[in-house]
Amino acid sequence: MNKQKQSLITNNQLISLGFLVSSFFIIHSCVHDPLLDPYSLNEGEFNTPGCVYSGEVCFESSVLPIFISSCTQSKCHDAATHEGGFVLTNYTNIVRKGIVPGNANESKLYKVLFGSGEDRMPPDGSLTQAQKDSIKAWINQGAKNTVNCNCSCDPNQFTYTVTIKPLLATQCVGCHKPGSLSGNVDLSTYTFVNTQVANGKLLGTVSHSAGFTSMPPGSKLSNCQIRQITNWINAGAINN
Ligand code: HEC
Repeated sequence: MNKQKQSLITNNQLISLGFLVSSFFIIHSCVHDPLLDPYSLNEGEFNTPGCVYSGEVCFESSVLPIFISSCTQSKCHDAATHEGGFVLTNYTNIVRKGIVPGNANESKLYKVLFGSGEDRMPPDGSLTQAQKDSIKAWINQGAKNTVNCNCSCDPNQFTYTVTIKPLLATQCVGCHKPGSLSGNVDLSTYTFVNTQVANGKLLGTVSHSAGFTSMPPGSKLSNCQIRQITNWINAGAINN
């Protein structure tokens, strides 16, 4: 776990803020965006560690490297020159400037990727569509400081206790337990999970097969996770 606390506002950032107001918002907007607090974006912590699932973007491994490699070269937004008051070298500074969590299209940091002339960032327009999509998805997913997210997943590790049960607990049980029995399906105990194995619905729903409602709603488990469930079922779906 990597939950370091950082001082929220440093003197440098206060000075940067002066530049920011004078050189950026006046050009782009008369309304000052509120400064975002990194802790509120991460439920009271400085970061949100742990695996990301299919479709989720990891800040640390997918978004930060874009800013570091594209926006922090000399004479740009690095700490030494901080052009326009933007020092885009770490999470705190990135989320403070022009991000509306959950709404990339309203976020200046995203809109400048499509600007023209001096308003375009980076100036040579060098980001790929995939990089822009990553930034967009990350903002739309709440602009969290997701770190340590690229968990190794081994499809050949699939015991109920170590793999399947925790996977269902994280991804499914919140909507499928006594008191919250979506679709009248309970996945909170081995016996009930086994019912959904026997009727084919566990695999059908997670693999998004025709004739089943796709689960979890609105997202998909990683291929590796689906293979773990498949392997566990093929091996007899035992309570091991
Ligand atoms: C956000 C809530 C939510 C989560 C998370 C969720 N489900 Fe569901 N699930 C539902 C709802 C709502 C239904 C009923 C959908 C319907 O009948 O159209 C449902 C239905 C089902 C059904 C019955 C489908 C059928 O065709 O009869 C199964 C099986 C199921 N879910 C498995 C899972 C599994 C496995 C996961 C985790 C990988 C999961 N669900 C995650 C809300 C959820």
